[in-house]
Amino acid sequence: PRPILLTRHGESRDNVRGRIGGDPALSEKGELYAKKLANFLEKRLQAERTASIWTSTLQRTVLTAGPVIGIPKIQWRALDEINAGVCEGMTYEEINKNMPEEYASRKSDKLSYRYPRGESYLDVIQRLEPVMIELERQRAPLVVISHQAVLRALYGYFADKPLEEIPYIDVPLHTIIEIQMGVSGVQEKRYKLMD
Ligand code: F6P
Repeated sequence: PRPILLTRHGESRDNVRGRIGGDPALSEKGELYAKKLANFLEKRLQAERTASIWTSTLQRTVLTAGPVIGIPKIQWRALDEINAGVCEGMTYEEINKNMPEEYASRKSDKLSYRYPRGESYLDVIQRLEPVMIELERQRAPLVVISHQAVLRALYGYFADKPLEEIPYIDVPLHTIIEIQMGVSGVQEKRYKLMD
């Protein structure tokens, strides 16, 4: 069985300020994670057949893959973070204060709530379909560096979680979720590289 390694990008400058979306660069801590991840992957994938790394097109995932050498990298637009539409760049407090109805309706149905001029979790799950098909076809180990909502959707799919649970799955920063698909189902390991 070949491993699929899922991780979020290293901490971004907007993660530090609590702002959602956008296309920020990494914080210093995020840059440190990128280095630790490269070390981890070098050791973990040493004995494996040619692996590849998939990132989104946003610079925080591309920069997180940066220090890795010798593994081909592919960018997928479908791996970009949920588009928060008019709320991009805001904090949750700002959304709650300035658009309380939007905040409340997302809270009451996070799965199907669609940001004005943006996306819902259901939209994200749908746009990930070609990625999932390609993921299942691959025979070599794969590293996916993406974002919180997208990884909830991918992980939820592999771990066979009910749709309603997907928006709440815990996918912390600086942690690698390793999935192995074998005959006896899906096995999972988590490696927390730093806080
Ligand atoms: O805060 C980081 C982030 O990736 C945002 O860009 C995104 O909108 C959010 O997480 C998704 O998480 P949630 O669906 O819980 O708001």
